[in-house]
Amino acid sequence: MRSVNFLIFSIILTIAAAFPAAGQKPSNNKKQNTRKPAPAETIPGRKWWKEAVVYQIYPRSFKDSNGDGVGDLRGIIQKLDYIKSLGIDVVWLNPIFASPNDDNGYDISDYRAIMKEFGTMKDFDELLAGMHKRGIRLVLDLVANHSSDEHRWFQESRKSRDNPYRDYYHWWPAEKGTPPKRVSFFDENGDGWRYDAPTNSYYLHYFSRKQPDLNWENPKVRQEIYSMLRFWFDKGVDGFRMDVIHFISKDPSYPPIPAEFGGDWGKFYGSGPRRHEYIQEMNREVLSKYDVMTIGEAGVGMQDAHNFVDADRKELNMIYHFEGVGLGYLPNSKKIIDPAGWKLTDFKNVYTRWDASFAEKGWNTVYLGNHDQPRMLTRWGSDAPEWREVSSKLLTTFLLTQRATPYYYFGDELGMSNIKFDRIEDYRDIESINWYKQIKEAGGDLRQFLESQKIAARDNSRTPFQWDATTNAGFTSGTPWLKVNPNYKTINVAAEEKNANSPLNYFRRLARFRKANPVLIYGKYTLVDAPNESVYAYTRELDGRKLLVLLNFKDREASADTGFDLSRAKVLFGNYPNFSKDGRLKPYQAVILELSK
Ligand code: NOJ
Ligand code: CA
Repeated sequence: MRSVNFLIFSIILTIAAAFPAAGQKPSNNKKQNTRKPAPAETIPGRKWWKEAVVYQIYPRSFKDSNGDGVGDLRGIIQKLDYIKSLGIDVVWLNPIFASPNDDNGYDISDYRAIMKEFGTMKDFDELLAGMHKRGIRLVLDLVANHSSDEHRWFQESRKSRDNPYRDYYHWWPAEKGTPPKRVSFFDENGDGWRYDAPTNSYYLHYFSRKQPDLNWENPKVRQEIYSMLRFWFDKGVDGFRMDVIHFISKDPSYPPIPAEFGGDWGKFYGSGPRRHEYIQEMNREVLSKYDVMTIGEAGVGMQDAHNFVDADRKELNMIYHFEGVGLGYLPNSKKIIDPAGWKLTDFKNVYTRWDASFAEKGWNTVYLGNHDQPRMLTRWGSDAPEWREVSSKLLTTFLLTQRATPYYYFGDELGMSNIKFDRIEDYRDIESINWYKQIKEAGGDLRQFLESQKIAARDNSRTPFQWDATTNAGFTSGTPWLKVNPNYKTINVAAEEKNANSPLNYFRRLARFRKANPVLIYGKYTLVDAPNESVYAYTRELDGRKLLVLLNFKDREASADTGFDLSRAKVLFGNYPNFSKDGRLKPYQAVILELSK
Protein backbone atom coordinates (compact mmCIF):
# COMPACT_ATOMS: atom_id res chain seq x y z
CA MET A 1 0.00 0.00 0.00
CA ARG A 2 1.66 3.23 -1.14
CA SER A 3 -0.50 5.43 0.97
CA VAL A 4 -3.98 5.24 2.36
CA ASN A 5 -4.70 8.74 1.09
CA PHE A 6 -5.83 7.85 -2.41
CA LEU A 7 -8.22 5.27 -1.11
CA ILE A 8 -9.61 7.74 1.39
CA PHE A 9 -10.18 10.31 -1.26
CA SER A 10 -12.26 8.09 -3.48
CA ILE A 11 -14.33 6.91 -0.51
CA ILE A 12 -14.99 10.49 0.48
CA LEU A 13 -16.17 11.41 -2.98
CA THR A 14 -18.49 8.42 -3.28
CA ILE A 15 -20.06 8.77 0.12
CA ALA A 16 -20.22 12.55 0.18
CA ALA A 17 -22.50 12.47 -2.82
CA ALA A 18 -24.90 10.17 -1.00
CA PHE A 19 -24.99 12.12 2.23
CA PRO A 20 -25.92 15.77 1.88
CA ALA A 21 -25.49 17.85 5.02
CA ALA A 22 -28.37 18.24 7.46
CA GLY A 23 -29.32 21.81 6.69
CA GLN A 24 -27.59 24.17 4.33
CA LYS A 25 -26.50 27.47 5.77
CA PRO A 26 -29.66 29.57 5.85
CA SER A 27 -29.30 33.12 4.61
CA ASN A 28 -31.39 34.18 7.59
CA ASN A 29 -31.59 32.05 10.70
CA LYS A 30 -35.19 32.87 11.69
CA LYS A 31 -36.96 29.54 12.27
CA GLN A 32 -39.77 30.04 9.77
CA ASN A 33 -37.20 30.04 6.98
CA THR A 34 -35.89 26.56 7.74
CA ARG A 35 -35.98 24.55 4.53
CA LYS A 36 -37.79 21.21 4.12
CA PRO A 37 -35.71 18.10 4.91
CA ALA A 38 -34.17 16.47 1.84
CA PRO A 39 -35.34 12.91 1.07
CA ALA A 40 -31.88 11.52 1.87
CA GLU A 41 -32.25 12.48 5.49
CA THR A 42 -33.31 9.14 6.88
CA ILE A 43 -31.36 9.15 10.13
CA PRO A 44 -33.70 10.15 12.94
CA GLY A 45 -32.78 13.26 14.89
CA ARG A 46 -30.37 14.61 12.32
CA LYS A 47 -29.29 18.18 13.01
CA TRP A 48 -26.68 20.34 11.36
CA TRP A 49 -25.02 21.03 14.71
CA LYS A 50 -24.61 17.32 15.37
CA GLU A 51 -22.80 16.90 12.06
CA ALA A 52 -20.65 19.98 12.42
CA VAL A 53 -16.97 20.16 13.19
CA VAL A 54 -16.56 23.29 15.29
CA TYR A 55 -13.33 25.25 14.96
CA GLN A 56 -12.63 27.52 17.91
CA ILE A 57 -10.70 30.73 17.30
CA TYR A 58 -9.17 32.79 20.07
CA PRO A 59 -9.35 36.12 18.22
CA ARG A 60 -6.63 37.79 20.26
CA SER A 61 -4.10 35.29 18.95
CA PHE A 62 -5.23 34.41 15.44
CA LYS A 63 -4.05 37.20 13.15
CA ASP A 64 -3.19 40.83 13.78
CA SER A 65 -4.08 43.04 10.82
CA ASN A 66 -2.79 46.41 12.06
CA GLY A 67 0.46 45.75 13.87
CA ASP A 68 -0.67 46.50 17.43
CA GLY A 69 0.27 42.99 18.51
CA VAL A 70 -3.33 41.90 19.13
CA GLY A 71 -5.30 39.66 16.80
CA ASP A 72 -8.46 41.25 15.40
CA LEU A 73 -11.53 40.75 13.25
CA ARG A 74 -9.88 42.03 10.08
CA GLY A 75 -7.16 39.47 10.71
CA ILE A 76 -9.79 36.73 10.71
CA ILE A 77 -11.35 38.20 7.55
CA GLN A 78 -7.96 37.99 5.84
CA LYS A 79 -7.76 34.32 6.72
CA LEU A 80 -11.27 33.20 5.82
CA ASP A 81 -10.07 31.11 2.92
CA TYR A 82 -7.68 29.28 5.21
CA ILE A 83 -10.54 28.60 7.63
CA LYS A 84 -12.71 27.38 4.79
CA SER A 85 -9.92 25.11 3.56
CA LEU A 86 -10.02 23.20 6.83
CA GLY A 87 -13.39 21.67 5.99
CA ILE A 88 -14.95 22.80 9.24
CA ASP A 89 -18.58 23.91 9.51
CA VAL A 90 -18.84 26.26 12.45
CA VAL A 91 -16.49 28.82 13.94
CA TRP A 92 -16.79 29.64 17.63
CA LEU A 93 -15.16 32.95 18.52
CA ASN A 94 -14.19 33.72 22.10
CA PRO A 95 -15.72 37.01 23.30
CA ILE A 96 -15.31 39.90 20.88
CA PHE A 97 -17.37 42.44 22.82
CA ALA A 98 -16.22 45.69 24.45
CA SER A 99 -14.09 44.79 27.43
CA PRO A 100 -11.30 46.17 29.60
CA ASN A 101 -9.73 42.70 29.25
CA ASP A 102 -9.17 41.80 32.84
CA ASP A 103 -9.92 38.24 31.70
CA ASN A 104 -9.39 38.64 27.94
CA GLY A 105 -12.96 39.51 27.02
CA TYR A 106 -14.73 37.38 29.63
CA ASP A 107 -15.43 40.70 31.36
CA ILE A 108 -17.81 42.54 29.05
CA SER A 109 -18.48 46.26 29.39
CA ASP A 110 -20.93 46.50 26.48
CA TYR A 111 -22.66 43.45 25.04
CA ARG A 112 -23.63 45.23 21.83
CA ALA A 113 -20.27 46.74 20.89
CA ILE A 114 -17.11 45.24 19.47
CA MET A 115 -13.92 45.39 21.56
CA LYS A 116 -11.89 48.36 20.27
CA GLU A 117 -8.76 46.28 19.82
CA PHE A 118 -10.71 43.80 17.70
CA GLY A 119 -12.31 46.31 15.33
CA THR A 120 -15.73 47.75 14.59
CA MET A 121 -19.28 46.55 14.02
CA LYS A 122 -18.66 47.08 10.31
CA ASP A 123 -15.77 44.64 10.52
CA PHE A 124 -18.01 42.21 12.35
CA ASP A 125 -20.74 42.42 9.69
CA GLU A 126 -18.15 41.82 7.01
CA LEU A 127 -16.76 38.85 8.90
CA LEU A 128 -20.18 37.28 9.35
CA ALA A 129 -21.07 37.81 5.69
CA GLY A 130 -17.70 36.35 4.65
CA MET A 131 -18.33 33.25 6.71
CA HIS A 132 -21.85 32.75 5.46
CA LYS A 133 -20.70 33.21 1.90
CA ARG A 134 -18.34 30.31 2.47
CA GLY A 135 -21.01 28.14 4.10
CA ILE A 136 -19.52 28.52 7.58
CA ARG A 137 -21.70 29.29 10.57
CA LEU A 138 -20.61 31.62 13.35
CA VAL A 139 -21.09 31.03 17.06
CA LEU A 140 -20.32 33.76 19.61
CA ASP A 141 -19.61 33.58 23.32
CA LEU A 142 -22.31 34.61 25.79
CA VAL A 143 -20.73 35.74 29.05
CA ALA A 144 -23.73 36.54 31.19
CA ASN A 145 -23.05 35.03 34.59
CA HIS A 146 -21.06 38.20 35.15
CA SER A 147 -20.21 41.44 33.38
CA SER A 148 -17.26 43.76 33.71
CA ASP A 149 -17.24 46.19 36.63
CA GLU A 150 -16.86 48.78 33.86
CA HIS A 151 -20.26 47.92 32.39
CA ARG A 152 -22.67 50.83 32.68
CA TRP A 153 -25.04 48.64 34.71
CA PHE A 154 -22.42 48.09 37.38
CA GLN A 155 -21.24 51.68 37.33
CA GLU A 156 -24.83 52.65 38.14
CA SER A 157 -25.43 49.80 40.54
CA ARG A 158 -22.55 50.75 42.81
CA LYS A 159 -23.61 54.43 43.04
CA SER A 160 -26.39 54.10 45.59
CA ARG A 161 -28.58 51.50 47.21
CA ASP A 162 -31.67 52.88 45.50
CA ASN A 163 -30.19 53.17 42.03
CA PRO A 164 -32.49 51.53 39.41
CA TYR A 165 -29.60 49.21 38.52
CA ARG A 166 -28.85 48.20 42.10
CA ASP A 167 -30.53 44.80 41.75
CA TYR A 168 -28.68 44.00 38.56
CA TYR A 169 -25.92 42.56 40.78
CA HIS A 170 -25.62 40.68 44.05
CA TRP A 171 -24.99 42.97 47.03
CA TRP A 172 -24.51 42.31 50.73
CA PRO A 173 -24.93 45.34 53.06
CA ALA A 174 -21.93 45.61 55.37
CA GLU A 175 -24.06 46.43 58.42
CA LYS A 176 -25.20 42.80 58.31
CA GLY A 177 -21.60 41.79 59.01
CA THR A 178 -19.25 39.79 56.82
CA PRO A 179 -21.13 37.97 54.04
CA PRO A 180 -21.35 34.16 54.05
CA LYS A 181 -18.24 32.67 52.54
CA ARG A 182 -18.01 32.52 48.76
CA VAL A 183 -14.76 31.70 47.02
CA SER A 184 -13.55 33.36 43.85
CA PHE A 185 -11.79 31.34 41.18
CA PHE A 186 -9.50 34.20 40.20
CA ASP A 187 -9.32 36.77 42.96
CA GLU A 188 -5.84 37.32 44.28
CA ASN A 189 -6.97 36.65 47.82
CA GLY A 190 -9.56 34.06 46.84
CA ASP A 191 -12.53 35.95 48.31
CA GLY A 192 -15.74 35.93 46.25
CA TRP A 193 -17.08 39.11 47.90
CA ARG A 194 -15.51 42.52 47.41
CA TYR A 195 -16.16 45.46 49.67
CA ASP A 196 -17.32 48.60 47.83
CA ALA A 197 -17.10 51.78 49.87
CA PRO A 198 -19.61 54.09 48.12
CA THR A 199 -22.56 52.04 49.41
CA ASN A 200 -20.82 50.28 52.31
CA SER A 201 -21.65 46.90 50.73
CA TYR A 202 -19.99 43.84 49.28
CA TYR A 203 -20.64 42.58 45.76
CA LEU A 204 -20.38 39.00 44.63
CA HIS A 205 -17.84 37.87 42.04
CA TYR A 206 -17.21 34.19 41.35
CA PHE A 207 -14.35 35.21 39.06
CA SER A 208 -12.10 38.29 39.32
CA ARG A 209 -13.09 41.37 41.29
CA LYS A 210 -13.58 43.07 37.92
CA GLN A 211 -16.21 40.45 37.00
CA PRO A 212 -19.22 41.10 39.27
CA ASP A 213 -21.94 38.43 39.03
CA LEU A 214 -25.17 39.52 37.36
CA ASN A 215 -28.35 38.98 39.35
CA TRP A 216 -30.49 36.64 37.25
CA GLU A 217 -33.11 36.58 40.00
CA ASN A 218 -34.04 40.03 38.71
CA PRO A 219 -36.37 39.59 35.69
CA LYS A 220 -35.06 42.85 34.21
CA VAL A 221 -31.58 41.38 33.97
CA ARG A 222 -32.91 38.33 32.18
CA GLN A 223 -34.83 40.52 29.72
CA GLU A 224 -31.66 42.54 29.04
CA ILE A 225 -29.81 39.33 28.19
CA TYR A 226 -32.62 38.03 25.98
CA SER A 227 -32.86 41.30 24.12
CA MET A 228 -29.12 41.27 23.56
CA LEU A 229 -29.31 37.69 22.23
CA ARG A 230 -32.05 38.76 19.80
CA PHE A 231 -29.84 41.61 18.63
CA TRP A 232 -27.08 39.18 17.59
CA PHE A 233 -29.42 36.51 16.21
CA ASP A 234 -31.20 39.13 14.11
CA LYS A 235 -27.82 40.01 12.63
CA GLY A 236 -27.56 36.39 11.56
CA VAL A 237 -25.29 34.89 14.22
CA ASP A 238 -25.78 31.12 14.30
CA GLY A 239 -25.47 30.33 17.96
CA PHE A 240 -23.86 30.95 21.30
CA ARG A 241 -21.44 29.14 23.52
CA MET A 242 -22.60 30.03 27.02
CA ASP A 243 -19.94 30.75 29.59
CA VAL A 244 -20.40 29.05 33.01
CA ILE A 245 -24.11 28.97 32.28
CA HIS A 246 -24.80 26.57 35.15
CA PHE A 247 -23.73 29.29 37.63
CA ILE A 248 -26.44 31.84 36.79
CA SER A 249 -28.92 31.10 39.55
CA LYS A 250 -28.10 31.97 43.16
CA ASP A 251 -30.08 31.63 46.35
CA PRO A 252 -30.27 35.31 47.35
CA SER A 253 -30.09 34.40 51.04
CA TYR A 254 -26.55 33.17 50.29
CA PRO A 255 -26.64 30.14 52.59
CA PRO A 256 -23.41 28.52 53.73
CA ILE A 257 -22.19 25.82 51.34
CA PRO A 258 -24.03 22.62 52.37
CA ALA A 259 -21.87 19.81 53.72
CA GLU A 260 -22.98 17.46 50.91
CA PHE A 261 -20.79 19.43 48.46
CA GLY A 262 -17.67 18.51 50.41
CA GLY A 263 -16.23 21.98 49.80
CA ASP A 264 -16.56 21.65 46.00
CA TRP A 265 -17.43 25.27 45.18
CA GLY A 266 -17.77 24.73 41.46
CA LYS A 267 -20.36 22.03 42.06
CA PHE A 268 -22.22 24.20 44.54
CA TYR A 269 -22.26 27.20 42.19
CA GLY A 270 -23.51 24.93 39.44
CA SER A 271 -26.49 23.78 41.49
CA GLY A 272 -28.37 27.07 41.81
CA PRO A 273 -32.09 26.45 42.39
CA ARG A 274 -33.54 28.19 39.31
CA ARG A 275 -30.88 27.53 36.66
CA HIS A 276 -33.10 25.31 34.52
CA GLU A 277 -36.09 27.57 34.85
CA TYR A 278 -34.05 30.50 33.51
CA ILE A 279 -32.66 28.54 30.58
CA GLN A 280 -36.14 27.31 29.72
CA GLU A 281 -37.37 30.87 29.78
CA MET A 282 -34.49 31.92 27.52
CA ASN A 283 -35.35 29.08 25.19
CA ARG A 284 -39.04 30.00 25.11
CA GLU A 285 -38.46 33.70 24.60
CA VAL A 286 -35.46 33.63 22.26
CA LEU A 287 -33.72 30.40 21.27
CA SER A 288 -36.80 28.60 20.00
CA LYS A 289 -37.42 31.41 17.53
CA TYR A 290 -34.19 30.86 15.61
CA ASP A 291 -32.39 27.99 13.91
CA VAL A 292 -29.29 28.33 16.05
CA MET A 293 -27.04 26.11 18.14
CA THR A 294 -26.36 26.50 21.83
CA ILE A 295 -23.59 24.95 23.82
CA GLY A 296 -23.31 25.44 27.53
CA GLU A 297 -20.01 25.47 29.33
CA ALA A 298 -21.21 23.53 32.32
CA GLY A 299 -18.94 21.39 34.45
CA VAL A 300 -21.85 19.36 35.76
CA GLY A 301 -22.42 15.67 36.33
CA MET A 302 -24.13 13.47 33.77
CA GLN A 303 -27.59 13.68 35.27
CA ASP A 304 -27.67 17.44 35.19
CA ALA A 305 -26.03 17.50 31.78
CA HIS A 306 -29.11 15.68 30.54
CA ASN A 307 -31.37 18.22 32.14
CA PHE A 308 -29.62 20.93 30.12
CA VAL A 309 -29.74 19.17 26.76
CA ASP A 310 -32.72 16.82 26.74
CA ALA A 311 -34.67 18.16 23.74
CA ASP A 312 -37.98 17.57 25.56
CA ARG A 313 -36.96 20.05 28.26
CA LYS A 314 -36.27 22.79 25.71
CA GLU A 315 -33.07 24.21 27.12
CA LEU A 316 -29.76 23.92 25.23
CA ASN A 317 -28.44 21.66 22.45
CA MET A 318 -25.16 20.59 24.01
CA ILE A 319 -22.91 21.15 26.98
CA TYR A 320 -19.27 20.40 27.50
CA HIS A 321 -18.06 18.64 30.59
CA PHE A 322 -14.71 18.73 32.37
CA GLU A 323 -14.25 15.14 33.45
CA GLY A 324 -11.85 14.26 30.66
CA VAL A 325 -9.67 17.36 30.73
CA GLY A 326 -9.54 17.22 34.53
CA LEU A 327 -7.65 13.92 34.62
CA GLY A 328 -4.07 13.91 35.85
CA TYR A 329 -4.23 16.81 38.33
CA LEU A 330 -4.03 16.45 42.09
CA PRO A 331 -7.58 16.72 43.48
CA ASN A 332 -8.68 20.18 44.66
CA SER A 333 -5.36 21.68 43.60
CA LYS A 334 -4.52 24.60 41.39
CA LYS A 335 -3.94 22.24 38.47
CA ILE A 336 -0.91 20.66 40.11
CA ILE A 337 0.21 17.73 38.00
CA ASP A 338 -0.25 14.35 39.65
CA PRO A 339 3.21 12.75 39.65
CA ALA A 340 1.50 9.42 38.94
CA GLY A 341 0.32 10.82 35.59
CA TRP A 342 -3.00 9.83 34.03
CA LYS A 343 -4.13 6.40 33.01
CA LEU A 344 -5.52 5.60 29.59
CA THR A 345 -8.12 3.35 31.21
CA ASP A 346 -9.45 6.36 33.15
CA PHE A 347 -9.49 8.43 29.98
CA LYS A 348 -11.42 5.74 28.10
CA ASN A 349 -13.75 5.31 30.99
CA VAL A 350 -14.72 8.99 31.01
CA TYR A 351 -15.39 9.23 27.28
CA THR A 352 -17.18 5.90 27.19
CA ARG A 353 -19.46 6.77 30.10
CA TRP A 354 -20.39 10.10 28.56
CA ASP A 355 -21.08 8.43 25.25
CA ALA A 356 -23.34 5.86 26.90
CA SER A 357 -25.15 8.54 28.77
CA PHE A 358 -26.19 10.24 25.52
CA ALA A 359 -26.81 7.05 23.55
CA GLU A 360 -30.60 7.39 23.66
CA LYS A 361 -31.24 11.03 24.41
CA GLY A 362 -29.44 14.33 24.04
CA TRP A 363 -26.18 14.82 22.20
CA ASN A 364 -22.56 14.67 23.33
CA THR A 365 -19.55 16.91 22.68
CA VAL A 366 -15.84 16.17 22.65
CA TYR A 367 -12.79 18.39 22.98
CA LEU A 368 -9.23 18.10 24.24
CA GLY A 369 -8.11 21.68 23.94
CA ASN A 370 -9.48 25.17 24.22
CA HIS A 371 -8.47 28.58 25.58
CA ASP A 372 -8.82 27.29 29.17
CA GLN A 373 -6.76 24.19 28.54
CA PRO A 374 -3.13 23.73 27.56
CA ARG A 375 -2.26 22.51 24.06
CA MET A 376 -3.73 19.04 23.58
CA LEU A 377 -0.50 17.80 22.04
CA THR A 378 1.55 18.47 25.18
CA ARG A 379 -1.13 17.30 27.56
CA TRP A 380 -2.48 14.17 25.84
CA GLY A 381 0.05 13.32 23.15
CA SER A 382 3.76 14.03 23.00
CA ASP A 383 5.46 17.24 21.96
CA ALA A 384 8.84 15.50 21.64
CA PRO A 385 10.08 16.21 18.08
CA GLU A 386 10.00 12.54 17.04
CA TRP A 387 6.37 12.06 18.14
CA ARG A 388 4.84 15.47 17.56
CA GLU A 389 3.33 14.83 14.16
CA VAL A 390 2.02 11.33 14.73
CA SER A 391 0.65 12.00 18.18
CA SER A 392 -1.03 15.17 17.00
CA LYS A 393 -2.74 13.16 14.25
CA LEU A 394 -3.67 10.49 16.78
CA LEU A 395 -5.52 13.05 18.92
CA THR A 396 -7.21 14.49 15.86
CA THR A 397 -8.36 10.97 14.99
CA PHE A 398 -9.81 10.51 18.47
CA LEU A 399 -11.70 13.82 18.30
CA LEU A 400 -13.13 13.24 14.84
CA THR A 401 -14.28 9.65 15.39
CA GLN A 402 -16.37 10.08 18.52
CA ARG A 403 -20.18 10.13 18.59
CA ALA A 404 -20.21 13.77 19.61
CA THR A 405 -19.77 17.19 18.07
CA PRO A 406 -16.02 17.87 18.05
CA TYR A 407 -14.80 21.26 19.27
CA TYR A 408 -11.41 21.63 17.67
CA TYR A 409 -9.10 24.38 18.90
CA PHE A 410 -7.22 26.55 16.42
CA GLY A 411 -3.55 25.66 16.12
CA ASP A 412 -4.15 22.05 17.10
CA GLU A 413 -4.39 21.32 13.38
CA LEU A 414 -0.72 22.34 13.14
CA GLY A 415 0.32 20.34 16.17
CA MET A 416 1.14 23.48 18.15
CA SER A 417 2.55 22.76 21.60
CA ASN A 418 2.83 24.39 25.04
CA ILE A 419 5.26 27.28 25.31
CA LYS A 420 6.18 26.27 28.90
CA PHE A 421 7.21 29.62 30.39
CA ASP A 422 9.90 29.46 33.09
CA ARG A 423 8.97 32.72 34.78
CA ILE A 424 5.70 34.09 36.11
CA GLU A 425 6.55 37.42 34.42
CA ASP A 426 5.91 35.85 31.00
CA TYR A 427 2.30 34.97 31.82
CA ARG A 428 -0.53 37.31 30.89
CA ASP A 429 -3.39 35.20 32.22
CA ILE A 430 -5.09 36.44 35.39
CA GLU A 431 -5.58 32.83 36.51
CA SER A 432 -1.84 32.04 36.52
CA ILE A 433 -0.84 35.42 37.92
CA ASN A 434 -3.35 35.45 40.77
CA TRP A 435 -2.86 31.79 41.69
CA TYR A 436 0.87 32.51 41.91
CA LYS A 437 0.13 35.42 44.27
CA GLN A 438 -2.14 33.24 46.40
CA ILE A 439 0.43 30.46 46.69
CA LYS A 440 3.18 32.96 47.46
CA GLU A 441 1.02 34.60 50.14
CA ALA A 442 0.28 31.22 51.70
CA GLY A 443 3.97 30.25 51.62
CA GLY A 444 3.19 27.38 49.22
CA ASP A 445 5.44 25.58 46.78
CA LEU A 446 5.96 28.07 43.94
CA ARG A 447 8.44 25.89 42.10
CA GLN A 448 5.96 23.02 41.95
CA PHE A 449 3.27 25.45 40.75
CA LEU A 450 5.44 26.88 37.96
CA GLU A 451 6.45 23.39 36.84
CA SER A 452 2.80 22.32 36.71
CA GLN A 453 1.88 25.49 34.82
CA LYS A 454 4.25 24.41 32.04
CA ILE A 455 1.77 21.64 31.40
CA ALA A 456 -1.49 23.15 32.63
CA ALA A 457 -1.51 26.95 32.18
CA ARG A 458 -4.06 28.53 29.87
CA ASP A 459 -1.49 30.82 28.22
CA ASN A 460 0.08 27.72 26.66
CA SER A 461 -2.79 27.57 24.22
CA ARG A 462 -3.17 31.33 23.82
CA THR A 463 0.18 31.99 22.16
CA PRO A 464 -0.12 33.49 18.67
CA PHE A 465 -1.07 31.29 15.76
CA GLN A 466 1.88 30.22 13.67
CA TRP A 467 1.36 31.25 10.05
CA ASP A 468 4.87 31.10 8.65
CA ALA A 469 8.57 31.27 9.47
CA THR A 470 8.85 35.07 9.27
CA THR A 471 9.18 37.29 12.36
CA ASN A 472 6.53 36.55 15.01
CA ALA A 473 5.29 33.63 12.95
CA GLY A 474 3.55 36.05 10.58
CA PHE A 475 1.04 36.81 13.35
CA THR A 476 1.93 40.48 13.76
CA SER A 477 4.34 43.08 12.47
CA GLY A 478 4.39 44.60 15.97
CA THR A 479 5.08 43.17 19.40
CA PRO A 480 2.78 40.24 20.15
CA TRP A 481 0.64 40.58 23.29
CA LEU A 482 1.89 37.15 24.38
CA LYS A 483 5.17 35.55 23.31
CA VAL A 484 5.19 33.46 20.16
CA ASN A 485 6.30 29.86 20.65
CA PRO A 486 9.89 29.70 19.34
CA ASN A 487 9.10 26.49 17.50
CA TYR A 488 7.20 28.56 14.90
CA LYS A 489 10.16 28.32 12.50
CA THR A 490 9.29 24.70 11.83
CA ILE A 491 5.67 24.45 12.98
CA ASN A 492 3.60 26.79 10.84
CA VAL A 493 0.90 26.84 8.19
CA ALA A 494 3.23 27.67 5.28
CA ALA A 495 5.45 24.67 6.00
CA GLU A 496 2.54 22.32 6.56
CA GLU A 497 0.73 23.40 3.41
CA LYS A 498 3.67 22.06 1.42
CA ASN A 499 3.63 18.67 3.06
CA ALA A 500 0.78 16.35 2.06
CA ASN A 501 1.26 14.36 5.27
CA SER A 502 1.41 17.26 7.70
CA PRO A 503 -0.93 17.34 10.71
CA LEU A 504 -2.73 20.19 8.94
CA ASN A 505 -3.51 18.16 5.84
CA TYR A 506 -4.38 15.15 7.95
CA PHE A 507 -6.95 17.22 9.84
CA ARG A 508 -8.43 18.53 6.60
CA ARG A 509 -8.81 15.05 5.16
CA LEU A 510 -10.27 13.60 8.33
CA ALA A 511 -12.77 16.44 8.80
CA ARG A 512 -14.07 15.71 5.29
CA PHE A 513 -13.95 11.97 5.86
CA ARG A 514 -16.10 12.30 8.99
CA LYS A 515 -18.65 14.35 7.14
CA ALA A 516 -18.82 11.87 4.32
CA ASN A 517 -19.24 8.90 6.66
CA PRO A 518 -22.34 9.22 8.82
CA VAL A 519 -21.26 6.14 10.74
CA LEU A 520 -18.59 8.32 12.36
CA ILE A 521 -21.16 10.89 13.39
CA TYR A 522 -24.22 8.88 14.36
CA GLY A 523 -22.96 5.29 14.57
CA LYS A 524 -23.19 3.31 17.78
CA TYR A 525 -19.98 3.43 19.82
CA THR A 526 -18.64 0.34 21.60
CA LEU A 527 -15.43 0.22 23.59
CA VAL A 528 -13.19 -2.73 22.78
CA ASP A 529 -10.46 -4.19 25.02
CA ALA A 530 -11.34 -1.88 27.91
CA PRO A 531 -8.44 -2.80 30.26
CA ASN A 532 -5.74 -2.06 27.66
CA GLU A 533 -3.47 0.70 29.07
CA SER A 534 -1.88 1.52 25.71
CA VAL A 535 -4.53 1.25 23.04
CA TYR A 536 -7.91 2.94 22.92
CA ALA A 537 -10.04 0.81 20.61
CA TYR A 538 -13.70 1.20 19.70
CA THR A 539 -16.15 0.34 17.00
CA ARG A 540 -18.70 2.59 15.32
CA GLU A 541 -21.70 0.98 13.66
CA LEU A 542 -24.49 2.23 11.43
CA ASP A 543 -26.66 0.73 8.72
CA GLY A 544 -24.65 -2.46 8.41
CA ARG A 545 -21.26 -0.76 8.40
CA LYS A 546 -18.82 -1.40 11.21
CA LEU A 547 -15.64 0.60 11.65
CA LEU A 548 -12.90 -0.12 14.16
CA VAL A 549 -10.76 2.74 15.47
CA LEU A 550 -7.41 1.82 16.99
CA LEU A 551 -5.42 4.48 18.83
CA ASN A 552 -2.07 3.70 20.42
CA PHE A 553 -1.56 6.42 23.02
CA LYS A 554 1.96 5.25 23.90
CA ASP A 555 5.41 6.04 22.47
CA ARG A 556 6.11 2.34 21.97
CA GLU A 557 4.53 -0.41 19.93
CA ALA A 558 1.37 -1.96 21.28
CA SER A 559 -1.57 -4.01 20.17
CA ALA A 560 -5.17 -4.48 21.17
CA ASP A 561 -7.08 -7.63 21.82
CA THR A 562 -10.04 -6.77 19.63
CA GLY A 563 -11.37 -10.23 18.86
CA PHE A 564 -11.77 -9.22 15.18
CA ASP A 565 -9.98 -10.77 12.24
CA LEU A 566 -7.94 -7.74 11.22
CA SER A 567 -6.32 -9.51 8.28
CA ARG A 568 -9.63 -9.06 6.41
CA ALA A 569 -10.23 -5.50 7.51
CA LYS A 570 -9.86 -2.62 5.07
CA VAL A 571 -7.74 0.37 6.08
CA LEU A 572 -9.74 3.56 5.56
CA PHE A 573 -7.57 6.08 7.29
CA GLY A 574 -4.39 6.30 9.31
CA ASN A 575 -1.46 8.38 10.46
CA TYR A 576 1.22 5.93 9.24
CA PRO A 577 1.57 4.75 5.64
CA ASN A 578 1.12 1.13 6.69
CA PHE A 579 -0.90 -0.90 9.09
CA SER A 580 0.35 -4.30 10.09
CA LYS A 581 -2.45 -6.82 9.66
CA ASP A 582 -1.35 -8.66 12.79
CA GLY A 583 -2.73 -5.64 14.66
CA ARG A 584 0.60 -4.42 16.00
CA LEU A 585 0.50 -0.61 16.24
CA LYS A 586 3.49 1.68 15.94
CA PRO A 587 4.03 4.41 18.57
CA TYR A 588 1.02 6.76 18.53
CA GLN A 589 -0.41 4.95 15.54
CA ALA A 590 -4.03 5.71 14.70
CA VAL A 591 -6.01 3.70 12.21
CA ILE A 592 -9.62 3.49 11.09
CA LEU A 593 -10.58 0.09 9.70
CA GLU A 594 -13.69 -1.17 7.96
CA LEU A 595 -14.56 -4.58 9.34
CA SER A 596 -15.93 -7.00 6.82
CA LYS A 597 -19.41 -8.38 7.43
C1 NOJ B 1 -14.92 30.21 31.44
C2 NOJ B 1 -14.12 30.80 30.31
O1 NOJ B 1 -13.92 29.83 29.32
C3 NOJ B 1 -12.85 31.30 30.91
O2 NOJ B 1 -11.89 31.65 29.94
C4 NOJ B 1 -13.19 32.46 31.80
O3 NOJ B 1 -12.03 32.89 32.46
C5 NOJ B 1 -14.25 32.08 32.84
N1 NOJ B 1 -15.30 31.26 32.31
C6 NOJ B 1 -14.88 33.31 33.41
O4 NOJ B 1 -15.70 33.92 32.45
CA1 CA C 1 -4.64 44.24 15.86
